[in-house]
Amino acid sequence: MTLNLKNRAARADDLISEEAYARVAQLLHELTGIHLPQGKRAMVSSRLSRPLRNAGVADIDAYCRVLAQPGATRQQDEFISALTTNTTRFNREAHHFDHLCQDVLPALAAKAQEGRRVRLWSAGCSSGEEAYGLAFHVLDHCPGAPTRDLRILATDIDNRILARARQARYPASALAALPGDQASRYFDPAPAGSTHCQVSAAARQLIAFRHLNLKQDWPFAGRFDVIFCRNVAIYFDETTQVHLWRRLCDRVLPGGVLYIGHSESIPPDITAGFAVAGNGIFQRHGRDTGAAQPAKSGETA
Ligand SMILES: C[S@@+](CC[C@H](N)C(=O)[O-])C[C@H]1O[C@@H](n2cnc3c(N)ncnc32)[C@H](O)[C@@H]1O
Repeated sequence: MTLNLKNRAARADDLISEEAYARVAQLLHELTGIHLPQGKRAMVSSRLSRPLRNAGVADIDAYCRVLAQPGATRQQDEFISALTTNTTRFNREAHHFDHLCQDVLPALAAKAQEGRRVRLWSAGCSSGEEAYGLAFHVLDHCPGAPTRDLRILATDIDNRILARARQARYPASALAALPGDQASRYFDPAPAGSTHCQVSAAARQLIAFRHLNLKQDWPFAGRFDVIFCRNVAIYFDETTQVHLWRRLCDRVLPGGVLYIGHSESIPPDITAGFAVAGNGIFQRHGRDTGAAQPAKSGETA
């Protein structure tokens, strides 16, 4: 059995030469910051087979030439979508949501009730479970949030996964991970014959899903009370990671909190102005004393 599996992997490896793999890795890195490690040739070969077919080419060399053409945005989108890892689930790393509920949301709910601006960001939101999870907790603490200046920005580089996030439909089985009775309060019951449930309008209305490449310029100027950027930087090379951490830390308001994934870490000099409030939890020193911040032009949330 082991031998068979090895043979199968070897055959898949044969589909993409080392040189072609290096070209794919370089292109992916240029476009996204993602570092493709050695030993993923079989995976890359299988994930690119459909994009190759759709581009009407027979080999990776020709495919890379298509991707390099000016205006090949659709093909680049498909390439990125094929090679990003979108694994996520509701209430992933639950201790982050526990911290948010106990130590952060009561004050943010009060801030929103005072008519002040509150912003949360799920950066690298994948199919939306993280952003909707944030919305459910926000509504628990501040049921009137949709009528306040409180919004959640949810961004990802992968347009295909963003389309799924916007649909806001999840298999009923995935809802079991939600705490308490959130599943029954924030989902419409599955229609007869369907196994999928729809997120309630109140939660959907809080979130703006936007395409954003974290490696490029960000088309908004504001800072955030809460940033979740979990299990995204782990796929980047070190330089891209450090650059991202610096930019994210700059975007946290005084008193605001940055949450990162359990296998990610930030060099301590970058978080010098932050207190470590838990595993992967960084709270910026100070208090946000600002009045309502007017939205800047081009701002997405
Ligand atoms: C593993 S998922 C993490 C989802 C969620 N944050 C969580 O922890 O469950 C990583 C997401 O990061 C996105 N991503 C990868 N590179 C990106 C980039 N350069 N800019 C924005 N998003 C990126 C991927 O498309 C993917 O959906």
